[in-house]
Amino acid sequence: MGSAIAKSISKGNYRLLLKGNNQASLDALIDEIKANDNTADAEAMACSTEACWEADIIILAVPFEAEKEIASKIKEVANQKIVISIANPLNKTYDGLVTAANTSAAEELQKLLPNSKVIKAFNTTFAADFSTPVIDGKQADAFIAGNDEEALETVSEIVSTAGFNPIVAGDLSVSRTLENMQLLLIQLGIKYNYNWLAGWKILHH
Ligand SMILES: NC(=O)c1ccc[n+]([C@@H]2O[C@H](COP(=O)([O-])OP(=O)(O)OC[C@H]3O[C@@H](n4cnc5c(N)ncnc54)[C@H](OP(=O)(O)O)[C@@H]3O)[C@@H](O)[C@H]2O)c1
Repeated sequence: MGSAIAKSISKGNYRLLLKGNNQASLDALIDEIKANDNTADAEAMACSTEACWEADIIILAVPFEAEKEIASKIKEVANQKIVISIANPLNKTYDGLVTAANTSAAEELQKLLPNSKVIKAFNTTFAADFSTPVIDGKQADAFIAGNDEEALETVSEIVSTAGFNPIVAGDLSVSRTLENMQLLLIQLGIKYNYNWLAGWKILHH
């Protein structure tokens, strides 16, 4: 997801500060981004704290279980910044979520980063969809949830740059539904070999 999001939003007017554990993969990703568009602004960062200190918007493209550790590293430098939660907190057997029914991965992240503006986005879009985010000739819908209006607008622009149709679904608690929606799509994929690339196209424009 980190690579897919970085590649897709490199088409926009963003300076990408990319942090990954595998330096060779990160270098290859940056080469690919620049080969596609030599004006793209992307660079590797050695440390997540430094990357988040420089960034205005932070996207955590890691498993839910890793967010606690990363949040503790970036808490101070993510103050007042937008932090995008893309995680689906699936259990190991993909038949449920590890979060309780009265919360979500996004709300748990907001508790860990109380002074940041956590926004849920990209959890309902499969990594493979980013190369062609189109269903039946129409942009796939991508749902967003959060409590800060300005941050929702900023993230909608990012989602739109990535090629999806941004739909603000509600406040951060709506993340519970969004995370369960993706659990359902994954379960349908497993049960019926449902088209994993279908994604969501609920609203017709
Ligand atoms: N795949 C999808 O289609 C999809 C769709 C929507 C949302 N999501 C969500 O997107 C997130 C990433 O999923 P993914 O499919 O991209 O997973 P992935 O391919 O396994 O990538 C996860 C990345 O997180 C890194 N990571 C893991 N633990 C870490 C830690 N403690 N500190 C720093 N980095 C850590 C991994 O680094 P290493 O490689 O070094 O382990 C890896 O680069 C998940 O929360 C998932 O629920 C995925």
